[in-house]
Amino acid sequence: MPLVGCIGQRGVVGGGVTEAGIRLTGVTRSYGDVLAVEGVDLAVPRGRRLAVVGPSGCGKSTILGLMSGLDEPDQGVVDVLGATDQAARLARCAWMPQRDLLLPWRSALANAAVSLENRGISRREARAVVRPLFARFGLAGFEEHRPRQLSGGMRQRVAFLRTFVAGKEVLLLDEPFGALDAITRAEAQDWLRAALEAEPRTVVLVTHDVEEALLLGHEIVVLTGRPGKVAASYAVDLPAAATRRELLATPEFIQLRDKVLAALEQRPSAPVAAVKSADGSPNPVRRAEG
Ligand SMILES: Nc1ncnc2c1ncn2[C@@H]1O[C@H](COP(=O)(O)OP(=O)(O)OP(=O)(O)O)[C@@H](O)[C@H]1O
Ligand SMILES: [Mg+2]
Repeated sequence: MPLVGCIGQRGVVGGGVTEAGIRLTGVTRSYGDVLAVEGVDLAVPRGRRLAVVGPSGCGKSTILGLMSGLDEPDQGVVDVLGATDQAARLARCAWMPQRDLLLPWRSALANAAVSLENRGISRREARAVVRPLFARFGLAGFEEHRPRQLSGGMRQRVAFLRTFVAGKEVLLLDEPFGALDAITRAEAQDWLRAALEAEPRTVVLVTHDVEEALLLGHEIVVLTGRPGKVAASYAVDLPAAATRRELLATPEFIQLRDKVLAALEQRPSAPVAAVKSADGSPNPVRRAEG
């Protein structure tokens, strides 16, 4: 049974992964004197998941803001599912900002349900959809707590649920599990992976956690320090493994993690072949299979 099928999110992928997803072409954005990102070309095929890693301040959140329609580039084009104008991008994206931005006067349950209510679903129905997910995310018993009565990690999980159930085709997740302890984070990652396998969406995930990028992304893009540019991109092609621990121990996982870490540290790693991606996406520079 679909994990969130009851909220009507389905059929996102359609016929395949080559449909127009998200495409950034020559995107540059500065804030006053600060050049945040420069000449960024990125593509995420529809129904696929891109993980973005890069040093602090290199423009990762800026890129999500541009995709979401909350911000506009100074140069270049941002296309989300065939739409380039700001309002249409806003309509297509559910964005989980780096700070949780919960409504302080609403309970945890009401915060998580707000995106469903915004879609015209009744308050009662919205809460009925969200309530079971509270148990999955270790929030059972805290439904009626206000955000100030929750821990940082709990607030983050409520914000994540609110984003996830919004029913948008595009999910923009800015360090969604950054405030969680290792065990809760692993559970949240496994849950999200299973949920997205069951009901694919087009996802851009910003994270500082390279393991998380490998576990959740179909592709990983490494950005340079500010101004953020694409330094390298890697297809994630890992063997099937029975458990998470087994997957993390496979040579393929270890090798790819090392390549991404090397690119982040800008140190040489094993040479990688310049190959074209199977879907023809233009994420440039170096690309490696697993
Ligand atoms: N609205 C804004 N007004 C002014 N400067 C901004 C704004 N948004 C981002 N910046 C600047 O742009 C640069 C990139 O910021 P951004 O938040 O995108 O980085 P980041 O890669 O997400 O960093 P972190 O990993 O620390 O979250 C920073 O120098 C930041 O100060
Ligand atoms: Mg950020």
